[in-house]
Amino acid sequence: MKRTLGTCYYPEHWPEEMWEADARRMVDAGLTWVRIGEFAWSKLEPSPGELSFDWLDRAIGVLGTAGLKVVLGTPTATPPIWLLKKHPDMVALDADGKARGFGSRRHYCFSHEGYRAECDRIVRLFAERYGANSHVGAWQTDNEYGCHDTTLSYSPAALAAFRAWLANRYGTIEALNRAWGNVFWSMEYGSFDDIGLPNLTVTEPNPSHMLAFRRFSSDQVASFNRQQVDIIRQHSSAPVSHNFMGRITEFDHFKVGDDLDIATWDSYPLGFLEDRVGADDAHQRSFARQGDPDFQAFHHDLYRSVGKGRWWVMEQQPGPVNWAPYNPAPLPGMMRLWAWEAYAHGAEAVCYFRWRQAPFAQEQMHAGMLRPDNADAPALIEARQVADELRGTSDVSVKQAPVALIFDYDADFAWATQPHGAGLNYFQVVFDAYRALRKLGLSVDILRAQTRDFSGYGIVAAPGMIYMPHDLKRALAEADAEIVLGPRSAARNADMVIPVPLPPDMPDLDVTVARVESTRPDMPMPLRGGGHFIGYREELEGSADVIFELEDGHPAVMCSDNLTYVGGWCDDAAWARLFKELCRKARIETMDLSGGVRCRDAGDLRIWTNYGAEAADTPAGRIAAAGVLFEEL
Ligand code: GAL
Repeated sequence: MKRTLGTCYYPEHWPEEMWEADARRMVDAGLTWVRIGEFAWSKLEPSPGELSFDWLDRAIGVLGTAGLKVVLGTPTATPPIWLLKKHPDMVALDADGKARGFGSRRHYCFSHEGYRAECDRIVRLFAERYGANSHVGAWQTDNEYGCHDTTLSYSPAALAAFRAWLANRYGTIEALNRAWGNVFWSMEYGSFDDIGLPNLTVTEPNPSHMLAFRRFSSDQVASFNRQQVDIIRQHSSAPVSHNFMGRITEFDHFKVGDDLDIATWDSYPLGFLEDRVGADDAHQRSFARQGDPDFQAFHHDLYRSVGKGRWWVMEQQPGPVNWAPYNPAPLPGMMRLWAWEAYAHGAEAVCYFRWRQAPFAQEQMHAGMLRPDNADAPALIEARQVADELRGTSDVSVKQAPVALIFDYDADFAWATQPHGAGLNYFQVVFDAYRALRKLGLSVDILRAQTRDFSGYGIVAAPGMIYMPHDLKRALAEADAEIVLGPRSAARNADMVIPVPLPPDMPDLDVTVARVESTRPDMPMPLRGGGHFIGYREELEGSADVIFELEDGHPAVMCSDNLTYVGGWCDDAAWARLFKELCRKARIETMDLSGGVRCRDAGDLRIWTNYGAEAADTPAGRIAAAGVLFEEL
């Protein structure tokens, strides 16, 4: 497959006279794709029913005629003001019951039927008008579901839909009361109409209630998206995508992905570093102009899985952004590196956000490929280099990795509902394990929780998966791979209740979690032989072999045949020790990578990237700071 480049463009922001020159310049730079349309509702329908699509017809024509392929976005992330006046209750309410206001974007509640009907209408207008347009090469639904904390809504519309969702799931109110343990604190309900949303309670709501609400909210995102996809597909055979984000875990991306042809995500490595990676100050300082060396790769692997193999970067950071706590400029070379890293993980396309920096409104401090005065910005220069390199490179292919990690959004909902200790969260557990594997030089596949066939993998890790259905436990126990479970794996049943027999209740593994505790993070619990548990540990009992022990003599990691259970929150050294040991058992070769050097195997190529600010040595030779190195295998 030919890997491609693209950009995000807003023709409605610029005089029409500029479009042709812009399009020519995009083609000259080697771009293939141009994404447009996703925020243009007020320009397409300035007042109810007054349609003004001619300009979009012309924009698509100009871009397409220049040789570009258009990704057409539906504009439902930005309902215009008249729509709010028509449906004043369409906005989401936050957990304090306050309405989210007009004046930015994403001011809608996924459950509002009136807004959904408006979305159907505008999406149908798009699909009917452009479904057969040969310049439209792909679609995008909405923009970044969940961005700006918009998945959970505590609105009356959400309440009504939640009650219906619960009635459908539990059948009778007695079944719900039993499943949630509502006898506790006299919380028993007489009917589904008694049930409220789990906000504004005096102290914490029942975790079963909260988890159900999170699952419901996730399903609302999936059904909102499906509604658009169904309409688009009636009129177009072009692939449909949605642009997901980094570390947004409030809805199940796999479920949304089931309705898409291509998963895309928006990658802002420097923007993410400060508040999404979960690293200390020293790490953030040393990667401030490069981004975390594993965070992008993790999402590349995640979205390859969400897209069932087909995925893109829809928005690639082009320079300083406007929205992070600090917004530094990338080191020269990073905008090229990020693109190559994405291709190494199988991206079909990388599109830079955005074409020209807008001198007005919220993102005036956000770089583009062009400056506001139309001069080339560094992103354009680096993108041109990538385009030249792509022309001279044979294809990058994807093959199964030797190790896999399961990522389960439902587990994230459960951890968020009941973290048990400050700072404990599911994403971090999985990401820490991922980083440890990458530092051993390994390529990693990320699998969804519904996977049952693990053939071909030497190691499969499912840390932190709080609810594990029995058939998953069985499939893992029977797999040939080394299996890693814990901490908190299988710690709750499907309704967020502690199961008896006590967890993990794993076939062929005699380990029982007898008690758990969370502690201050500055009370690390040393392991004999190196590494620590930090902030959380479990007391393990059973006849399985103790392979790691805490210094106080308690078992820390236990193992029986191919099944390993980790009874605490590992620091980097503990994960590294454990995975090294398991790789030895599974006969997987490892390396010891440090600093910002990482690699990924792509067919016959090993692609090395250096997120470090200094040149470094790799087994394949020296790699420049912010450099990429191609090794033939
Ligand atoms: C993304 C979003 C874009 C733009 C960009 C700025 O989250 O999809 O519309 O706002 O961030 O970095």
